Amino acid sequence: MEIIQLNNKPFKTYISSIEIAESCTKMANQINSDYKNKRPLFLAVLNGSFIFAADLFRKINLPSDISFVKIASYSGTNSTEKINNLIGINENIEGRDIIIIEDIVDTGNTLHYLFEILKEKKANTIQIATLLFKPEAYKWNYPVQYVGKTIPNVFVVGYGLDYDGFGRNLNSIYILNEK
Ligand code: IMP
Repeated sequence: MEIIQLNNKPFKTYISSIEIAESCTKMANQINSDYKNKRPLFLAVLNGSFIFAADLFRKINLPSDISFVKIASYSGTNSTEKINNLIGINENIEGRDIIIIEDIVDTGNTLHYLFEILKEKKANTIQIATLLFKPEAYKWNYPVQYVGKTIPNVFVVGYGLDYDGFGRNLNSIYILNEK
């Protein structure tokens, strides 16, 4: 087991790069079969999903499009008010089969926000492809169709996921090594 230090905290290997690659291939195969004769539009949610999106998308053998979106959140004039703003959707969403690519679905608040916008823009279908899913933390009912791995309510880092900006570049996924 590999122990690494990130911002003075010890982390240990949780999901190896081999296991990640296997999950990625399995998910891509499933999507390739489910979307046969369709042309899905993948929407990868930045920042965390960029590495997973790159690996997953290279295994997709359908004619398909990919775009990157970001939810910028800022405080309104009232300090308790948080305003979300979606940036990066330039495509026409109407009638498209959307696959949202996430690194991790935790509370699902990000998904909820995206779903509502995509429904408003009249997407034909909306599915979610996430590498990791924390069902214990999930607060919504949108079905999470494609899941690489279900994990308990723990904090993980690596493979695009960060801890205070650290660890996105790691090939495996790590968990805090609590004494
Ligand atoms: P949600 O909106 O609560 O589902 O979570 C959305 C975002 O929170 C993810 O896309 C991640 O960027 C971040 N996040 C949630 N859990 C973790 C974690 O365990 N490690 C690192 N980032 C996380």
